[in-house]
Amino acid sequence: MNRTYLETLFALSGKTALVTGGSAGLGRGMAEALIGAGARAAIVGRSKRVFDAAEEIGAIPLQADLADRKQAQALVGQAVEALGGLDILVNNAGVQIRHPAEVFPLEDWDRVLGVNLDAVWILAQAAGRHMLVQGYGKIINVASALSFVGGITIPAYAASKGGVAQLTKALSNEWAGRGVNVNAIAPGYMNTEMCAALVGNPEREPMILARVPAGRWGLPDDLKGVVLFLASAAADYVHGVIIPVDGGFLGR
Ligand SMILES: NC(=O)c1ccc[n+]([C@@H]2O[C@H](COP(=O)([O-])OP(=O)(O)OC[C@H]3O[C@@H](n4cnc5c(N)ncnc54)[C@H](O)[C@@H]3O)[C@@H](O)[C@H]2O)c1
Repeated sequence: MNRTYLETLFALSGKTALVTGGSAGLGRGMAEALIGAGARAAIVGRSKRVFDAAEEIGAIPLQADLADRKQAQALVGQAVEALGGLDILVNNAGVQIRHPAEVFPLEDWDRVLGVNLDAVWILAQAAGRHMLVQGYGKIINVASALSFVGGITIPAYAASKGGVAQLTKALSNEWAGRGVNVNAIAPGYMNTEMCAALVGNPEREPMILARVPAGRWGLPDDLKGVVLFLASAAADYVHGVIIPVDGGFLGR
């Protein structure tokens, strides 16, 4: 296998990508990887920081609150217009809210399910419609280790991420034969804003790291290879899988 073949296999030049929650954390790392491989990308953020982030990484900024269904529904059309097409969707935006299950407020349940599952569905359906017409597309959902295990005090998050894994398989079953790959990445414990209360926490951090065979927190860079793989021709025959990137957490 020569070098040119390998470069072609993973190249994304000429491709267009939409990454939700791309201003920071894992989404930003994945957007950087896609852009680095030659794709034109738009990143979506709720706040104005999406404009600075987009400038820093060379993406197009799109501001939207994915908790708002109308804004979510409009987003794929806006991305197609801004990018001149859409080949890759990375459904990355997500929120986590913690309360003991017996006192978990319904409004927080709605918020978590709204961003983590409803918006993923709305965007995947809209992107899928576009991609099915062109007979090509890559949808990459960000699931979680919590798609497989239940966690503690995060019932809405675990339910939403379990839903993302199932939705990934359901969409893949319908679209795999029509040129659209739908897959998911399941990160483990990653050092981002979402885990800010845990990183460096004298009680929780040692317990968590003892449970991760790799012995460290995951970083945004740890998702770059897997997102490039799933977004590229290298994964053309990969459908409906949920790939853990978790330092071995799920294997223990
Ligand atoms: N950090 C972890 O340990 C971990 C583990 C497994 C899965 N994940 C998942 O990875 C994804 C990225 O998380 P992260 O760790 O980078 O956390 P993060 O908090 O740094 O990033 C979350 C992103 O989602 C965006 N977002 C949240 N609500 C939004 C809304 N209503 N509208 C638009 N954008 C919104 C935020 O602006 C942010 O850019 C999430 O889906 C998360 O559930 C994270």
